[in-house]
Amino acid sequence: MKIAIIGGGPAGLYAAILLKKQRPDAEITVYERNRADDTFGFGVVFSDATLDNFEKYDSPSYRRITQEFAYWDDIAVHFRGTVHRVGGNGFCGCSRRKLLLILQERARELGVTLTFEADIEDEARFADADLVVLADGINSRFRDRYIEHFQPEVDLRSNVFAWMGSTRPLDAFTFIFQETEWGPFIAHAYQYEAGRSTWIFETDPQTFKRAGLEGLNEKQSADRMAGIFGWFLEGHQLLTNRSMWRNFPMIRSKRWVKDNMVLLGDAKATAHFSIGSGTKLAMEDAIALADAMQRAPTVDAALRQYEDGRREEVEKTQHAADVSLVWFEHVDRFWDFDPVQFAFGVMTRAKAITYDNLTLRAPVFVSEVDKAFAKQVRAKGLDVDVERPVAPMFQPLRLREMELANRAVVSPMCMYSAKEGVPGDFHLVHYGSRAIGGAGLIFTEMTCVSRDARITPGCTGLWNDEQEAVWRRIVDFVHANSAAKICLQLGHAGRKGATKLMWDGMDRPLEQGGWDVLSASPIPYFPDSQVPREMDRVAMDAVKAAFVQAAERGEACGFDMLELHSAHGYLLASFISPLTNQRSDAYGGSLANRLRFPIEVFEALRAAWPSHKPMSVRISATDWAEGGITGDDAVVVARAFAEAGVDLVDVSTGQTVRDAQPVYGRMFQTPFSEQVRNEARVATMCVGNITTSDQVNTILAAGRADLVALGRPHLVDPSFTLKAAAWYGAEAVFCPPQYLPGKEQIFRNSVRDRQDFDDLKIKAKPKTRAELKAEATKPLAAE
Ligand SMILES: Cc1cc2nc3c(=O)[nH]c(=O)nc-3n(C[C@H](O)[C@H](O)[C@H](O)COP(=O)(O)OP(=O)(O)OC[C@H]3O[C@@H](n4cnc5c(N)ncnc54)[C@H](O)[C@@H]3O)c2cc1C
Ligand SMILES: Cc1cc2nc3c(=O)[nH]c(=O)nc-3n(C[C@H](O)[C@H](O)[C@H](O)COP(=O)(O)O)c2cc1C
Repeated sequence: MKIAIIGGGPAGLYAAILLKKQRPDAEITVYERNRADDTFGFGVVFSDATLDNFEKYDSPSYRRITQEFAYWDDIAVHFRGTVHRVGGNGFCGCSRRKLLLILQERARELGVTLTFEADIEDEARFADADLVVLADGINSRFRDRYIEHFQPEVDLRSNVFAWMGSTRPLDAFTFIFQETEWGPFIAHAYQYEAGRSTWIFETDPQTFKRAGLEGLNEKQSADRMAGIFGWFLEGHQLLTNRSMWRNFPMIRSKRWVKDNMVLLGDAKATAHFSIGSGTKLAMEDAIALADAMQRAPTVDAALRQYEDGRREEVEKTQHAADVSLVWFEHVDRFWDFDPVQFAFGVMTRAKAITYDNLTLRAPVFVSEVDKAFAKQVRAKGLDVDVERPVAPMFQPLRLREMELANRAVVSPMCMYSAKEGVPGDFHLVHYGSRAIGGAGLIFTEMTCVSRDARITPGCTGLWNDEQEAVWRRIVDFVHANSAAKICLQLGHAGRKGATKLMWDGMDRPLEQGGWDVLSASPIPYFPDSQVPREMDRVAMDAVKAAFVQAAERGEACGFDMLELHSAHGYLLASFISPLTNQRSDAYGGSLANRLRFPIEVFEALRAAWPSHKPMSVRISATDWAEGGITGDDAVVVARAFAEAGVDLVDVSTGQTVRDAQPVYGRMFQTPFSEQVRNEARVATMCVGNITTSDQVNTILAAGRADLVALGRPHLVDPSFTLKAAAWYGAEAVFCPPQYLPGKEQIFRNSVRDRQDFDDLKIKAKPKTRAELKAEATKPLAAE
């Protein structure tokens, strides 16, 4: 077999090693345009898990690599004169130059031919090769030559960065967030061998310009960075090696394979440096390719296996890198945070590290985070213990005169079980049991302001006395038997009205018994949905009046809070999104115009709703569709509602148009809540695939939301909050006297269960290399 590898970076060399081990008879040649030791960059970083993989696949190179490594366990966050350190991370650093020399030596030893100073122009010269590996890096010539086939997508990020080195020793992966007269600068730094560390400097484009960095040469930029970070460098030099300021390109390629050619490493996909995974991805690609070549009967099948099997892992890493880079791009959102909360945000930014996870590794740090959180609650006038605080989820929140006992919320969820808008026994049991289950706040399902405002024939309403009486009974039950507050969500279905019950076909038009539907513009939801009537002023007045009357009935029922549903493509949302609002009057066109009617309804409700009771608005912070609402628009929307007197923005997303492309995942809507909260400076509630109390605490402690709503988890577990309270030892959680023996038991057992769980986790976690090294070098205790 003949294999040609273009590019002698980590991807190309490691692929050569693994393939040669598998097929000693194969003729494998690596073509590299540079000289053997002519490399850019300073150190590379690997996690312990990546090293375990290297050990498994090629132990000789692993051994040589690890002999050269610097190990560290801690992450240190420097911000506003403070430093917070968190241990147990298990990272290793190594010089990129040494790594490449080790891989070259190992490849040679195995019989791979290495051809340096060979700049490959054309792959036609490898016509007789069975496999051509395109490992030619981020600016891959061959990926771009077949751009139509590989379809790379290059997302050039807004922040600028430069890679430098230093002689400053470091004992932790170090993040320094530095305020300057021009704006914030960030240094990501780690040691990779004795007396050498990598320094990546990052800033936003405006700060870059203001600081006069444009057009400076490498030496001048290094001097400027040494000026800014001089207090930390303690006289150590900054070194340069192709250290130009650049924008990071996030690259994703639709295809990785063409005939017998395959993309590997940066050529195929990149991952932002803030999660330190470029070299790791490149070498793990080589592992995946070698595995596929081992298993599959033909090269063709192997390449297909490589692409199919590896894509998910790469996309996961890229997603984590995306989330992380966005955090750094928007660091100004958190710049006024308490430093410990800021550090918590840095640690948890990419979702892998959580509140519980940190509690296990860095209990003192988490206890400081809890204290800072409790202090903020106390500063808002609530009498909470700041010395021995409960976890953030169990901290109270006050909105106007309504005080919530904790921050867990039952999200609004249609039960499609009402008759002519009248809730039934199911609703009493449903809301009652969730209130008893301990959530601080319960939302009603979208309750419709008139008969023709309903989504389905099973939706609840509040336009007549019979409905009001049943809702009053539910509210009375909640108040009498729990500590929960209950919020009435009022809505109008708009163009999604007159549709079937969820289990008969979500959003599908009713075949019989439907009613006329309204919207901002006459655009049907499905092509075969009813064409809605474009609302005129008379219709707007009628709808507004219906909202006000329903709110007055809501007050008569005793609801504690009112939410205006302006999300998910329903009537008010249809005004806000440009995809559903194509009006040419004062209610269409600019975002300000599109907001006019929803804000008018909100103001009418605010005037009718008692001033001591809070109001929220649910918005879709993105349409997940080309040309639709974006996170930046959501900030404008939130500000407009805040000016109109909203106390909380309930940040959901999507459901506006059929062809949306939502990016699902754990806590997938939380970034929008974070943006709205910290840019519009308004309290937010986040929701969406949040399933554990650990996630709830992580979100709250990092300042990404003020309340956390859970929908589907509450459908199967009314006592989600009570159970979480037992886990975190939040004794004060309410439990009705009838259920106290159950509470006592779960609180008692939870202490032991949690201890067992933590022990198991500690036992299951292998020692990091840094810990093993520390143990090995520890002097033996005198017997
Ligand atoms: C300037 C710079 C500095 C960096 N510094 C660091 C760092 O300090 N730490 C870190 O973790 N990561 C660093 N990275 C990122 C990291 O290098 C990559 O993520 C990783 O090297 C990807 O490995 P690769 O083998 O896919 O690509 P590369 O390492 O880029 O290797 C590709 C190779 O292909 C060669 N090549 C390209 N075209 C041809 C051709 N036509 N013919 C022959 N050869 C060709 C190139 O010369 C290069 O050696 C840096 C990247 C850059 C651009
Ligand atoms: C059965 C069901 C009904 C829903 N009904 C409503 C509703 O009436 N009003 C609303 O704003 N959201 C509604 N939603 C959306 C939820 O409030 C929530 O935003 C969504 O389910 C995502 O949260 P989760 O991942 O915790 O379930 C509904 C969701 C479900 C599953």
